[in-house]
Amino acid sequence: MKTIAILTSGGDAPGMNAVIRSVVRTAIYNDLKVLAIKEGYNGLIKGDIETMTLSSVADIIHRGGTILRTARSEEFMTEEGMTQALDVIKKFKIDAIVVLGGDGTFRGARELAKRGIKVIGIPCTIDNDLGYTDYTIGFLTAVETAVSAISKLRDTSESHGRAIVLQVMGRNCGDIALYSGIAGGAESIVVPEVKLDIDAIINKIKNGKKRGKKHHIIVAAEGALDAYELEKIIEEKGGIETRVTVLGYVQRGGVPTVQDRILASDFGYDAVNLLISGKSGLVLGYKNGKIIELDIDEALEAKKEFNKDLLNMVDILSI
Ligand code: F6P
Repeated sequence: MKTIAILTSGGDAPGMNAVIRSVVRTAIYNDLKVLAIKEGYNGLIKGDIETMTLSSVADIIHRGGTILRTARSEEFMTEEGMTQALDVIKKFKIDAIVVLGGDGTFRGARELAKRGIKVIGIPCTIDNDLGYTDYTIGFLTAVETAVSAISKLRDTSESHGRAIVLQVMGRNCGDIALYSGIAGGAESIVVPEVKLDIDAIINKIKNGKKRGKKHHIIVAAEGALDAYELEKIIEEKGGIETRVTVLGYVQRGGVPTVQDRILASDFGYDAVNLLISGKSGLVLGYKNGKIIELDIDEALEAKKEFNKDLLNMVDILSI
């Protein structure tokens, strides 16, 4: 093992830079050459690659985004794209690649592994939608951003006596909505994993109003429903003035939280050490308080379990 490469792919996630820093520094400490592949798998196809030094990763641990840039590469999943990528790997004498991203990125890594390339995947996505790990890098930072939005929205919801629907990201996963809703003290949380009960939401708003409550925050995951549709139904069926805020890409940026930075540093360090010890074809995760490593196939097959108990708790805490 002489040369390892690193790339970030898919949606960026706060904490990716902390992983990059950890991989580069651990590799150089172990006398390895480190190559940066730019713009995800697109850079691997095009050969957009440069050598990293200790100072290439200075001053980035606290920055959101990814200094390597990122992309969702459709070309990589074609036979032609893969052939070009394999040529580039050969040309640059890359012995192993550390890939940072979510399930799409891991599917790309699995294709490389099938063709004999040594890869290690590190879970980086704000969605927290990978079943084999309790946390993905970027998730808790995105939740902090959503919680900060909830606090601000509560002020205006209270002042006007309106209900507010806050739409958060997460694709088909309701974790950002669930965690930010709990931490922000939301009255209702709507997620794709649990059937929507609009009457229950309307009754809750009405009961709250009866006892003098002015605000009502509904956190809705983007995968659950159209937030504007929900607004319309609450207004028409419940007669309650309602407004929508779509949080959008704000959730993808910003300073990574302490938890994200620590986990990112640990993942990067472990990835390089696993490669040095001869292991590959794996992804790293965090389960029950411990860092774990798992075969890429197994990780991609693991079904994400939604924590319904936490959601049920919200009904009691936000009564
Ligand atoms: O996967 C991260 C994510 O931000 C999702 O929450 C969101 O649905 C999607 O990416 C947006 O994708 P894009 O960056 O391609 O617009």
